[in-house]
Amino acid sequence: MFRNHFIISKSIHLGIFQVFGRKPPGKRRIFGIHWRLCFSSLCLDIWFMEQDQVERIRVWFDEYTSRFLGDDEVVNAHLRLKQEHAARTCEEILLLAEQLGLDENQKRIAEVVALMHDVGRFPQFAEYRTFHDPTSVDHCALGVAVLREQGVLEGLAAREAQWVETAVACHGRKVIPSGVTGPALLFSKLIRDADKIDIFRVVLENYRGYRENPDTFLLEIELPDEPGCSRDVLEAVLNGELVDSRRLRTLNDMKLCQLGWVYDMNFTPALQRLKELGFLDDIFECLPQTPDIARVREGILIYIDARLAGDAK
Ligand SMILES: [Fe+2]
Repeated sequence: MFRNHFIISKSIHLGIFQVFGRKPPGKRRIFGIHWRLCFSSLCLDIWFMEQDQVERIRVWFDEYTSRFLGDDEVVNAHLRLKQEHAARTCEEILLLAEQLGLDENQKRIAEVVALMHDVGRFPQFAEYRTFHDPTSVDHCALGVAVLREQGVLEGLAAREAQWVETAVACHGRKVIPSGVTGPALLFSKLIRDADKIDIFRVVLENYRGYRENPDTFLLEIELPDEPGCSRDVLEAVLNGELVDSRRLRTLNDMKLCQLGWVYDMNFTPALQRLKELGFLDDIFECLPQTPDIARVREGILIYIDARLAGDAK
């Protein structure tokens, strides 16, 4: 109740600002247009996302992403991978939201965030034929541009649309910018955890598929598959630091970087799920069995157990 009162007050304030902040040509236009702006501003701030809006966005996503499919099987394989990843990330985020006790409105927003978080991947791959951001384009920023160009979030409450945009913009950043707070921070943290869980699943399938049939493997391996790993990447993960993707030189570096994501998991239930799914053990099996890698593994297992016991972040 109080929350709605605050929102309504804010809307009226914004509406008044719109009335006096512009220069209408005549009195009629003040009442004809600007009061309508007041009213729509008021409504957009007290509306909450409904399930039919989630369904509408889902229909748009299927139609938009399918536009990029064509005769090229390599392109199709990459784009279908992202369509499936979006669907599974929705499942992961809803599971996490349930475990965290979020309400139905928060779950709907979280689902839209998960569905849309990688929407920039489709035009990215169509134009550059890679998912490698450093050599192509920032897929998070491109995703926000797509949402705006296509008017995907029109009809949502302004604040909810803003939270979705912020979470999409932040999901792939090394860290969430300090200025992101409140619900935008919550949804950014949720998508970062849910995304990581499914990325572990995807990369494991890719590493196994590539190992079994390197010559016929269709999907992109972004870095050279060379023995060993870079010393600075190894040291960073050993120290529990996040690794900037621009520092990665080999496929093993990427695997180490991905394992280091456990230090960036926001919610304990997400970490618990990652442990239960066994993805981390499986990725370690895809790395050289050296004393350094064993040290990384030991450090990660100790950290996870401490988090699950409530001793760490
Ligand atoms: Fe993703």
